[in-house]
Amino acid sequence: MKVLVTARLPEEVLGRITRCHQVQIHGEDLPMKRQTLLESVAEVDGLLCTITDRIDRELLDRAPRLKIIANNGVGFDHIDLEEADVRAIWVTNTPGVLTRATADLTFALILASARRVVEGDRMVRAGGFTFWAPLKFLGTEVSGKTLGIVGMGRIGRAVAKRAAGFEMRVLYGGRSRLAPEAERELNVSFASFDDLLSESDFVSLHVPLGPQTRHLIGARELSKMKPSAVLINTARGPVVDEKALVEALRSGSIGAAGLDVFENEPQLCPGLADLDNVVLLPHMGSATIETRTRMAEMACENLLAGLAGKRPPNCINR
Ligand code: DGY
Repeated sequence: MKVLVTARLPEEVLGRITRCHQVQIHGEDLPMKRQTLLESVAEVDGLLCTITDRIDRELLDRAPRLKIIANNGVGFDHIDLEEADVRAIWVTNTPGVLTRATADLTFALILASARRVVEGDRMVRAGGFTFWAPLKFLGTEVSGKTLGIVGMGRIGRAVAKRAAGFEMRVLYGGRSRLAPEAERELNVSFASFDDLLSESDFVSLHVPLGPQTRHLIGARELSKMKPSAVLINTARGPVVDEKALVEALRSGSIGAAGLDVFENEPQLCPGLADLDNVVLLPHMGSATIETRTRMAEMACENLLAGLAGKRPPNCINR
């Protein structure tokens, strides 16, 4: 069958696909141009794509033979699931394997933002470390503080486990409440959204992007947070109204932010990069060799199953 792979992936993974199918690979790190992508799907049966490919009705109209869309990632807000359902196309993702890497990077951002790690690095490189003084480069302590986790799915729970090592008090909010045993085991307390915002020293976002979570954090929510609070986003950029965030960071209505994702990725909201109290990363939550390899393997397993007419292991549509 014909397969399109829209990004460079580990050779051994690609080998498993090329051994049994006719594969076109976009062998670059730069995302496929929209027009090229649209032209390349005309005859494909299987598509292995990434978060940078918009899989919408226009694309699906041009891919009448498509049987499976295997996404190399867990988030699928770039795929029109309803349209795929209508056309009986399998859609799959890679849940679970990036939980630990993303939770680790969340903590990297918490520590970097609280302890001004990146700012310090910039100063040292610029030759600015000329003396030590008791009141220079003061950050805020992480240990013992309150962490508010918005969205207690796999990644939220992994973040809560890491917070235990820092002896943090953990509040959480989201669509559903954990069972009492799970709350006890993780040592977390359920809080209303507004209480979580006003009581937390760190607010970390772990919700998928959808109509209910777009701009979940805007001017109103930022105004509820402590002036010293740190906002962490390793979920999806549009969950935060970035313009409102720039304003809050600039005016001191919150203390700092650590962002791995952006509202109009990869573009930054004007003003964001001028601020010292924000750490900016290039969407690298899952970027470890182990995790990215496992993600590619899972996407490949899903793709091969779908092409073989079997229900893929990580199917997300009906
Ligand atoms: C995902 O998988 O959704 C991440 O954002 C990219 O790895």
